[in-house]
Amino acid sequence: MHSSSFPLEPIEKASVDELRALQLKRLKATLRHAYDNSPAYKTKFDQAGVHPGDCTSLADLAKFPFTNKKDLRDGYPYGMFAVPRGQCARIHASSGTTGKPTVVGYTRNDIDMWASMVARSIRAGGARPGDLVHISYGYGLFTGGLGAHYGAEKLGLTVVPFGGGQTERQVQLMVDFKPDIIMVTPSYMLAIAEEFERQGLTPADASLRVGIFGAEPWTNDMRLAIERRMAIDAVDIYGLSEVIGPGVASECIETKDGPTIWEDHFYPEIINPDTGELAPDGEIGELVFTSLTKEALPIIRYRTRDLTRLLPGTARTMRRMEKITGRSDDMMIVRGVNVFPTQIEELILKRAELAPHYQCILRRDGAMDSLLVLVETRPGVSPNGPQAQAATRLLQHEIKAYVGTSVEIELRAAGQLERSVGKAKRVVDLRGSP
Ligand code: DLL
Repeated sequence: MHSSSFPLEPIEKASVDELRALQLKRLKATLRHAYDNSPAYKTKFDQAGVHPGDCTSLADLAKFPFTNKKDLRDGYPYGMFAVPRGQCARIHASSGTTGKPTVVGYTRNDIDMWASMVARSIRAGGARPGDLVHISYGYGLFTGGLGAHYGAEKLGLTVVPFGGGQTERQVQLMVDFKPDIIMVTPSYMLAIAEEFERQGLTPADASLRVGIFGAEPWTNDMRLAIERRMAIDAVDIYGLSEVIGPGVASECIETKDGPTIWEDHFYPEIINPDTGELAPDGEIGELVFTSLTKEALPIIRYRTRDLTRLLPGTARTMRRMEKITGRSDDMMIVRGVNVFPTQIEELILKRAELAPHYQCILRRDGAMDSLLVLVETRPGVSPNGPQAQAATRLLQHEIKAYVGTSVEIELRAAGQLERSVGKAKRVVDLRGSP
């Protein structure tokens, strides 16, 4: 049984009634703030025929219009802000796949609240006073590095602000500085583990006790694989820049049963992505967030495109979200069947001959879409040998049986697929090319 020496905040132990009362009070203030101070929100609300005064219960939130990435792009760069740019302490931006980046702003209070939520997340992940935190999320416009950094500092821990890349040096410093906690994408953790091995070190002998992994979908099987290889506890941290950055939700080490949503600041809803209708807790759909305390960029019913469901609280009163299975953007439709990279990941991890490095390539053969899965074999397993060939056939069979589609599989020798230093690119779509 793990126990943290950092005390919980009162709100983490509050009753559901207290929590709902606080949420309603904050929601009303947020809707009012957005309407009064952000012309873009005023226009959206007016067009939808709703007014902040129409919100008298949490259920009333459903009357308000959604916000999506396009709203933020249309207002590029500061159009949706509810404070003058001069009152922002910081700007972050996420590079979209197409066109202009999505720009988000933070007042000094927003930065403080964000740091508190990341501090709460790191504490929930099992941090202890005096811990050293090695941060390998990228620093800069991406929210991962600075978000993790301010949170770890706020909790009073020692921070090594490494950032992404220079894997060989990362490992050297980890050997010398002996971090207790690492914050990094799960895919880059694998690259770091490999580098330990390349240097003749056993990753499990490293000083790390906890990994706080997020910024991309990863499965429970990947969790187990990382935990065994590194001899650590691996927890899941979730967030997105439009809502704040990392620390919207995070897993508690004592349960590891999906991120607890820090509901006192971020109000979750699940909707049917096709109809926009509200779905009850427990049902899978698209996750939607409303910020409850943000000043610079209040975000009302933001459609995340992430698919999950809301679950009752376990380690905390606040609700959890099931580990994200995928983003609607990553969903591949292969011969009419919906396929997520995480489904493939789960099945790859079952095969001892295969390594958890993979990429899905979508191609068009005539009128049909086809999916090619590139997978690496484990070090020491030849892609052309009988073991690897048998594993390929089994994987192909299992994908057909469990996911429902035929795929081609191509094996690569260990180390032959490109490693990510941040978010892994799991899907490459070649269908646009003639
Ligand atoms: O990735 C913020 C973050 C940084 C979260 C570090 C956790 C750790 P964006 O670049 O705006 O922000 O990307 C947000 O990444 O909508 C999800 O699709 C995906 N994502 C983030 N965390 C998780 C997670 C950061 N734990 C998008 N599991 C989100 C699955 C995640 N997907």
